[in-house]
Amino acid sequence: MDNQSRKLKVAVLFGGVSGEHEISLLSARSILSALDPERYEVIPIGITHEGEWLYGEKALEELGEGTLSTCIPATLLPDPTRSGIYLLREEASAWLLQRLCQVDVVFPVLHGTFGEDGTIQGLLEIANVAYVGSGVVGSAVGMDKGIFKDVMRAHGIPVVDWKVFTRREVESGLEEVVAKSEAIAPYPLFVKPANLGSSVGVSKCRNRDELISGLKEAIRYDRRILVERGVNAREIEVSVLGNEEVEASIPGEIIPADEFYSYHAKYHDDRSQLLIPAPLEPHLSEHARSLAVRTFKAIDAAGMARVDMLLDKDDGELYVNEINTIPGFTRISMYPKLWNAVGISYPQLVDRLIELALERKAEKAKNLYRYQRERR
Ligand SMILES: Nc1ncnc2c1ncn2[C@@H]1O[C@H](COP(=O)(O)OP(=O)(O)O)[C@@H](O)[C@H]1O
Ligand SMILES: [Mg+2]
Repeated sequence: MDNQSRKLKVAVLFGGVSGEHEISLLSARSILSALDPERYEVIPIGITHEGEWLYGEKALEELGEGTLSTCIPATLLPDPTRSGIYLLREEASAWLLQRLCQVDVVFPVLHGTFGEDGTIQGLLEIANVAYVGSGVVGSAVGMDKGIFKDVMRAHGIPVVDWKVFTRREVESGLEEVVAKSEAIAPYPLFVKPANLGSSVGVSKCRNRDELISGLKEAIRYDRRILVERGVNAREIEVSVLGNEEVEASIPGEIIPADEFYSYHAKYHDDRSQLLIPAPLEPHLSEHARSLAVRTFKAIDAAGMARVDMLLDKDDGELYVNEINTIPGFTRISMYPKLWNAVGISYPQLVDRLIELALERKAEKAKNLYRYQRERR
């Protein structure tokens, strides 16, 4: 075997049909530059806002600039007997598939819809390719804030009180939705779409007028929305790494530049700060780490996740707010920085995630997919 063929072939997917497309490009830039060319053969694949897959060494730059002049349309077939990356070429008004290479691991660096929600994971499962991060269920449950909270409750993990409403309920029964929302807790209330990230569509509502406009804003983004008790909170985050055996990092803290950690505060206001470690009493720090591991296991997450918590300044209670199964992954993002603080460098983290992806696929290979009489 020549040296080239012994390298692991890693397809890195970025961009995507998601409000977090641009954030994904930032995460992918850091990941691509951290993959050791001695160990990996990297196959960069950009996914446009429209969902087109494009392969090319310059895919990242071109997707960011919107030029796409040197990229070639590419695809991955769901058929596991023909897995691998294929290039698509048009010849004499027919599309031809040309196999580029087999892939050992896919790294979906796709935040939000179609990347973090179990949908791309479904394709990768059917194709029987190893991939970084959680599987279908972990991703989907981690993405839907309503179902996620149901699972948290079932596991006895503390979450703030909430109710889920549908777009139809808001459109045709606003008064009832308002009344049920006001029964959750006194203002402020938070309204958010069930399946989104980056604080898109999230509102802090101090009174009924703001609640009504928050509800109308949230249903623009999703069919299902949540109304929650607003907590006067410190925001604590813990990174989790592993498959069957998982580890929690030390907790970090976000000091948002806005009144809450809005889209603007996250990406456009450099006054938002990350404190690593979070200045917490040792027992609270341990509590946060243990909640993070319990949360990860409760949804059957895998590989990596960042668990975000709200520490109520009024009563000192710690609540799990959400889990991000494909957390922000630039070199200055909380997820890798928390690992860095405990001695795992950014490239080591990427290596570990690829190992975990292969380990998970090996575990899956133990499953039988046709009935066999019990072995005695
Ligand atoms: N119940 C709540 N109480 C107080 N602040 C909240 C609450 N829910 C959300 N927030 C604020 O809104 C931000 C975004 O909400 P979050 O649920 O984390 O959604 P996203 O997935 O968009 O990050 C949080 O980081 C926090 O600042
Ligand atoms: Mg959040």
